[in-house]
Amino acid sequence: MKNIVILISGGGSNMAAIVKTAQREDWPTRYGARVAAVISNRAQAAGLQFAREQGLATAVLDHKAFATREAFDAELMATIDRHDPAGRPALVVLAGFMRILTPAFVEHYAGRLINIHPSLLPAFTGLHTHQRAIEAGCKFAGVTVHEVTAELDHGPILAQAVVPVLPQDDADTLAARVLTQEHLIYPRAIASLLSTK
Ligand code: GAR
Repeated sequence: MKNIVILISGGGSNMAAIVKTAQREDWPTRYGARVAAVISNRAQAAGLQFAREQGLATAVLDHKAFATREAFDAELMATIDRHDPAGRPALVVLAGFMRILTPAFVEHYAGRLINIHPSLLPAFTGLHTHQRAIEAGCKFAGVTVHEVTAELDHGPILAQAVVPVLPQDDADTLAARVLTQEHLIYPRAIASLLSTK
């Protein structure tokens, strides 16, 4: 079985969309794949509750308990890899995981690490993407699923979706419109990857 490990920091709505799609489309039968675990760096992340209710393995690793980024990432790698019998999950999925990862982490999961970012990359890397798109006068905004490489919010683009920016939008209304698309394209991009792995 190809194991997918999902990392979250907050609401976990993308993680929930992936888990529900995996159930609906029967990924174990179709791709020989399953969501093996959900890991959060915040104990309060609302998504953990959903994951537990689904009977998924969960883990919390609080980054504040580690002296360095390197130490946190080393423990995170060990925690992720424990959720695969061979210590090598097929896919590590960042779903609203709000941590900058070390080169060692990115290298360890090279070719198996993907992220969703709420902008049309390469525009608006980093934070506050929706506010920045509005302030720039963009008529369209969107979301990108990409492979993670050493440079933040770069790496080969796997999928994108576009939404209009409406005159009355603020960052919250735009974020909500984009999030609806995130929930469609992230599971689809993962399924597409699984079919080729
Ligand atoms: C999503 O909009 C995701 O694109 C964004 O955080 C949100 C998480 O929502 N990710 C980033 O900004 C990464 N830099 P969720 O926890 O409900 O999936």
